[in-house]
Amino acid sequence: MAEIRLNAFDMNCVSHQASGLWRHPRDRSAAYRTLGYWTDLARLLERGLFDGLFLADVLGVYDVYGGDPRAALRNAAQVPVNDPAMLVPAMAAATAHLGFGLTCTLSYEHPYPFARRMSTLDHLTDGRIGWNIVTGYLNSAAKGAGKGGQAAYDTRYEIADEYMQVVYRLWEESWQDGAILRDVERGIFIDPDRVHRIVHDGAHFSLDAIHLCEPSAQRTPMLYQAGASTRGRDFASRHAECVFLASPSADIVAGGIADLRRRARALGRHDGDPLIFSLLTIVTGRTDAEAQAKWEDYRRYVSLEGALTLLSGWTGIDFSRYAPDDPVRHIRNDAIHSAVDALTVQDPKKAWTVRELAEHAAIGGMGTTIVGGPERIADLLEDRVVRTGVDGFNLAYAVTPESFGDVVDLIVPVLQRRGIYKRAYRPGTLREKVFGRGDRLGNDHPGSRVRCRATEEMP
Ligand SMILES: Cc1cc2nc3c(=O)[nH]c(=O)nc-3n(C[C@H](O)[C@H](O)[C@H](O)COP(=O)(O)O)c2cc1C
Repeated sequence: MAEIRLNAFDMNCVSHQASGLWRHPRDRSAAYRTLGYWTDLARLLERGLFDGLFLADVLGVYDVYGGDPRAALRNAAQVPVNDPAMLVPAMAAATAHLGFGLTCTLSYEHPYPFARRMSTLDHLTDGRIGWNIVTGYLNSAAKGAGKGGQAAYDTRYEIADEYMQVVYRLWEESWQDGAILRDVERGIFIDPDRVHRIVHDGAHFSLDAIHLCEPSAQRTPMLYQAGASTRGRDFASRHAECVFLASPSADIVAGGIADLRRRARALGRHDGDPLIFSLLTIVTGRTDAEAQAKWEDYRRYVSLEGALTLLSGWTGIDFSRYAPDDPVRHIRNDAIHSAVDALTVQDPKKAWTVRELAEHAAIGGMGTTIVGGPERIADLLEDRVVRTGVDGFNLAYAVTPESFGDVVDLIVPVLQRRGIYKRAYRPGTLREKVFGRGDRLGNDHPGSRVRCRATEEMP
């Protein structure tokens, strides 16, 4: 079996996907607004040889449940939420290898300043930055940014495609290799002939500029994406190097992975690309009994209203209008299609009621949670890899940093003993550590095509 990869999944807010657990006496998530929380977490994850810390983000408030933000505010359901990008330099200074998968929406920022911010982070982290490409799902975000509502679902993916074309050109085409001369004798820092204007006039963006940053180690940050609908998989197969799936059923994950890999292969992508991570929460202890006791203890702090507030935002369904035993029915709206599908039509064996859904999602959101001692957890991880073809897991927490510490101290050593977890990081950038094929986008990746053009122009 190939090595299992681990990322941590967190957000710059309180109790990211553990509704109500901010009340647990050992939970430190309310310290999200201090650098100490993040630098301690980064060091812990690096001790456990995690590939990265995946930082979720939303630019709006969860106001679908009940039609206003009151439940979100009461439960601290991903509000307050600080900017995740600001955390990265501090964590990078505290570590040498950990990668950072930063979620940034492309719906409210022009590609020109955004490309500069990512290049800056790639410089400051020595090539350890990744970008989770999202378009958002909350209307409140669009309203906050001065729009009437978010663009329609399909339109968002069209805009995203064009956005990618622009940022690829800024990162890969604007500056040729060798443009930085630092020629002391001639007094020339940059060779102007090797820096190119990017002119783009498209349906959604126009631009006439050079990229403002000199090339960073990875140029294009390592690209993550989390769309799982048919349209989402189409986008992911063209752009993503790592895909993040979340589903309460392993069978749904398996179907999505097979389809995604087929699409990527048809486009000539490298065999096995993109890498696929699924959302998982691990509750463990030194024995099965200790893990079970921990799980029961955590459950005492759960807020079902908080969970339904998040679920309402993800699905666009106002669950405050349902009775607890009502079944969850399929609808189509402009929120996350794959989330609604996973809870309704995709799994004929499971008909969720609202109460079951809230209980499920209160710890671990739309993913699954596994409970057990180290050997049992290692067996379950192996089984999931074999059954679904997933490459690794994005691990959410129940109580932070306890959940991550338990995995580092109890699970990682068992996986290492079984020969299915690394014992050291590979040198180099995040892309090199994860893929071992160089720092830059692979030649099979569509984003590298613009780079080839720039190289041909070289004198
Ligand atoms: C596990 C997972 C994590 C996600 N994290 C974020 C996030 O942090 N911010 C965001 O705006 N969207 C996030 N999304 C939403 C996706 O980026 C995408 O917009 C959404 O899944 C809709 O596409 P789909 O219907 O194709 O899945 C996430 C989705 C999944 C499945």
